[in-house]
Amino acid sequence: MNNTFAKDIINGLTTSNKELSSKYFYDDSGSRIFQEIMQMPEYYLTDSEFEILSLQVQQIVAALEFEQPFNIIELGAGDGFKTFKLLEYLVTNEVAFNYVPIDISQEAITILTQKLKSRLPELSIAPKVGDYFEILRETSENKTPSLLLFLGGNIGNYSHSEAIDLLKLFYQNMNANDKLLIGMDLKKNPITIHNAYYDKAGVTKRFNLNLLIRINREFDADFKIDDFDFYCHYNPINGEVKSYIVSLKTQTVHIGKLGLDIDFQQNELIWTELSQKYALSDIEVLAKTTNFNIKHHFLDCKHYFTDSLWEKLH
Ligand code: AVJ
Repeated sequence: MNNTFAKDIINGLTTSNKELSSKYFYDDSGSRIFQEIMQMPEYYLTDSEFEILSLQVQQIVAALEFEQPFNIIELGAGDGFKTFKLLEYLVTNEVAFNYVPIDISQEAITILTQKLKSRLPELSIAPKVGDYFEILRETSENKTPSLLLFLGGNIGNYSHSEAIDLLKLFYQNMNANDKLLIGMDLKKNPITIHNAYYDKAGVTKRFNLNLLIRINREFDADFKIDDFDFYCHYNPINGEVKSYIVSLKTQTVHIGKLGLDIDFQQNELIWTELSQKYALSDIEVLAKTTNFNIKHHFLDCKHYFTDSLWEKLH
């Protein structure tokens, strides 16, 4: 049994404001539902970032100012093919580099590796499955210049203070000339943001409720999925999208392996996810606070999203 997950379930469901972290969304089936989200017309983040990496790859690579060979270490690679345009450009131009995708889902990594091996047979790839902090510590001992990729807007799942801690950890594990390319979703028309998370087809709802299915399976619980719904809300003042699972009735859920009974009031919430949106000025503040210099913000043409290139201040 997974201990941190168990502790987080116990802590998160036995307090008055219930919560379960979105980091547990990504079991193999959650990773598959996330692939569906990325293909939804409303979920603009993927298309925006794909445009950036397609149209500005040359400028991004030039801004690295790297000696060859170098490493590209991707945190949370998924099987989403986010980086394909970048990798394709480098392989085509015979740049010497090694690609290290890291993800928590074995299935996602297997699919990604297979796709890349067939589409870019010359690519040097060393995939890793696991927790990225641990893997990052191992790789920072290596003196080859490295580009860390933290794409897709994943930073948005971290609260302000957690984001600072994470960026400090990146900082500690980077050598002097290493770079970080970080994807962040920008504040924009609130309706556009709302629609990306409150999709009509209910894919995001399934993504959230999959967490209950996962707990049923892994912890022998009896969540009745039909008795729960999904709600989310964007606050354009602070840039936070918050997602929730809603209990549709007064009910008690038994979690067998944890020996727990959890009572729900009708309409009681479980907070599942934060998806933070940023202004460029918010990003500048975050970089300053964590001792980074921003070399460039690479934006898509609609200015929906940025892949920002950071370097350590020295
Ligand atoms: C993968 C964290 C960027 O917050 O937009 C998509 C996850 N959640 N729809 C996001 C997600 C609901 C996504 N990130």
